[in-house]
Amino acid sequence: MERTSVTTVLRAESPAESLCVKGWVRTLRTGKDIAFFALNDGSCFASLQVVVTPQLSNYEELIKIGTGACLCVEGTLVESPASGQRWEIHARAVEILGPTDADYPLQKKRHSLEFLRSIAHLRPRSNTFGAVFRMRSALSFAVHRFFQERGFMYVHTPIITANDCEGAGEMFRVSTLDAETPPRVDGKIDWTQDFFGEKTGLTVSGQLQGELFATAFSDIYTFGPTFRAENSNTSRHAAEFWMIEPEIAFADLADDCRLAEDFLRYLVTYALEHCGEDLSFFNERIESGLIEKLESLANARFETLTYSDAVSRLLASGESFQFPVQWGLDLQSEHERYLTEKVIGGPVFVTDYPAEIKAFYMRLNEDEKTVAAMDLLVPRVGEIIGGSQREERLEILIQRMKQVGIVPESLGWYLDIRRWGSCSHAGFGLGFERLLMYITGMENIRDVIPFPRTPGHARF
Ligand code: 4AD
Ligand code: MG
Repeated sequence: MERTSVTTVLRAESPAESLCVKGWVRTLRTGKDIAFFALNDGSCFASLQVVVTPQLSNYEELIKIGTGACLCVEGTLVESPASGQRWEIHARAVEILGPTDADYPLQKKRHSLEFLRSIAHLRPRSNTFGAVFRMRSALSFAVHRFFQERGFMYVHTPIITANDCEGAGEMFRVSTLDAETPPRVDGKIDWTQDFFGEKTGLTVSGQLQGELFATAFSDIYTFGPTFRAENSNTSRHAAEFWMIEPEIAFADLADDCRLAEDFLRYLVTYALEHCGEDLSFFNERIESGLIEKLESLANARFETLTYSDAVSRLLASGESFQFPVQWGLDLQSEHERYLTEKVIGGPVFVTDYPAEIKAFYMRLNEDEKTVAAMDLLVPRVGEIIGGSQREERLEILIQRMKQVGIVPESLGWYLDIRRWGSCSHAGFGLGFERLLMYITGMENIRDVIPFPRTPGHARF
């Protein structure tokens, strides 16, 4: 008999004589001549109650089965007399597809997120991670839907690349050279003998190639994995994370901010409309007031502060921060959170940062000290989006590259789009895990990505 998913079963309009469900046992309760299984197949948060009685030939075996066992159940769907659930299945036959034993680490009790991280191969079967990963899937779809509805083209930018877009020196090396005895010239490793004939690494951002496509297709986006060998062990940084990077031609910083605002609002609204059951769980167990926060974001107008204003506000706050606040220094996450949580009390764009602390490709403002950059800050997470208007003026871009030590010829192809048919354009990157942290209330990035990669951790 064909399998019906638990989510379909639970949404049934009427009883059914015969159906088949498959899933994993969450709990077993036994009474006198009756037992109840909560069966979960991940298709939704809720489990389905399965009622078994001694009429089943393997009843004695079934009531000994533990949490985590995999079952195939055939039976009748009837209205449940129990409160909190509309339907239950009265089993006619239960096959044990995969037994389990007392060593199963996910026994029915509350586990800490730290412990669950150590069993990342099993944690998708827990309530919390079931909800997180369903949300991750739903929001991936919403990302594509947002851009596709607006006529943006999806482009796959390369994973292996020879350029460090952000210039922060955080690239993972990709090489097939013998690590023990690499070929050398003048004492230095001879990268020309490497697989690609030059030094390559894993991409930190698809932006530079995204820009090339925006100057052909006007509105594009990427959505893919990015890698940063950032040796910082924080709750908001991963070595491998997913980023969404739209790039729009004929656009300035204000257009960029508007797109970012529409995008975030769309994703939050999508979650509210399509992921209600999982959101209720997060609201109850992870962040109290979460749904209210999301609903208010869906209607909020995002504030904007220039970097200079932000620095003044921080200086005037009287707050004692761990890191110094001074015009010209980058904002640390304690400053970002203070701005969004205490000064504004909601999402805020910080714009026009000093050129020295930002990447080479950002457009120089008229003051020649700041660039047309923006970071979107949100409560609890801090920076969720970083973007900018790009420098479209060839001479200024070349000058800027030289200032930061990039040999212009090494990015000749990037300069070419300024040489031929240049136009103003802008874009941003949304860290997908930061978005998930914001929408689920989960406080550690390790808990919103299936198999996190952080310094010292690449298990699973
Ligand atoms: O601010 P970032 O470094 O900007 C860029 O990479 C630009 N090329 C984007 C663009 O304009 N197309 O990164 C963008 C976002 C950050 O705001 C943050 O949400 C996320 O990516 N991010 C990280 N997320 C998890 N772990 C890390 N190590 C991250 N680094 C950045
Ligand atoms: Mg940034």
